[in-house]
Amino acid sequence: MNRANSTVLVAGSANLDFVVRAAHVPAPGETVLGRDFSTFPGGKGANQAVACARAGGAPTRMLLALGDDPYAVPLEASLRAAGVGLDVVRARGEPTGVAFVCLADGAENAITVAPGANATLRPEHLPPLNGVSHLLMQLETPLPTVEAWARAARRAGVYVALNAAPAQALPRGLQGDCRLLIVNEGELAAIAGTHGVAAGLDALDVEAVVVTLGARGCCARVGGEYLLQPGFVVEAIDTTGAGDTFCGTLVAALSLGLPFPAALRRACAASALACTRLGAQAGVPMHGEVQRLLASRKGEAAEELAAYAGLA
Ligand code: RIB
Repeated sequence: MNRANSTVLVAGSANLDFVVRAAHVPAPGETVLGRDFSTFPGGKGANQAVACARAGGAPTRMLLALGDDPYAVPLEASLRAAGVGLDVVRARGEPTGVAFVCLADGAENAITVAPGANATLRPEHLPPLNGVSHLLMQLETPLPTVEAWARAARRAGVYVALNAAPAQALPRGLQGDCRLLIVNEGELAAIAGTHGVAAGLDALDVEAVVVTLGARGCCARVGGEYLLQPGFVVEAIDTTGAGDTFCGTLVAALSLGLPFPAALRRACAASALACTRLGAQAGVPMHGEVQRLLASRKGEAAEELAAYAGLA
């Protein structure tokens, strides 16, 4: 691949995350007395763009929509600080997207998103794709828009990757335009309509499918080959954005020419580090930190993961 043409375009959402820490995530009808409150730059798209540039070290641009309000300011600043070039659609009269995150002491979270400006993204907002080698999208923007962007990018010879989150059924045409699909177990079940990782991997007609499995790591089917990458053991305090760090780092690594097994290992290391810090984008590690973690570990035993995924 011509490296001069290897910019990753991330097209998707940006939210300001309102985060309350609490002992546990509330059950329906329950009120939980939380503790400290903070805001952090978030949104699956923007988190992935920051990860692509900062953890992945790839030239990165982002297409996003922001309101004309104060919430947009830290979002733009965080992306620019990570070195992401911006194509901003200014959604007049719409608020910037926000997310309400309950972060539990066990590091897990529950998130509700009010899309605001993100919902105004339309097919015609896709910028010219000159110099773009990879397009990375998520599902926090309208599905018809995601479909149109995927189709246009595929036709232009761009490698299309989709993180199908939040979970929803995917139109066949969209699957056909994607060369890489990244999902967690819930999203896999929603799309494939099957139970279990191995069955889900086999059910999808996409060139490469990666399933993230939290602290266990990930597994993938690339063409006809199955790949297993166990997770890196860390002390997790906040898993918000860990999946996004995985996606951005993975696509960055592929755009830089890494083969799939090495790209998956790099993405797992980056997402593990992201869990050790608070905040979605604030938690994304630097490229050098990821490289140091990779160098400090020899290679991870995959037997348990293979058994879990039904690939033993
Ligand atoms: O994936 C984590 C992200 O989901 C948060 O940053 C929140 O904004 C929601 O988009």
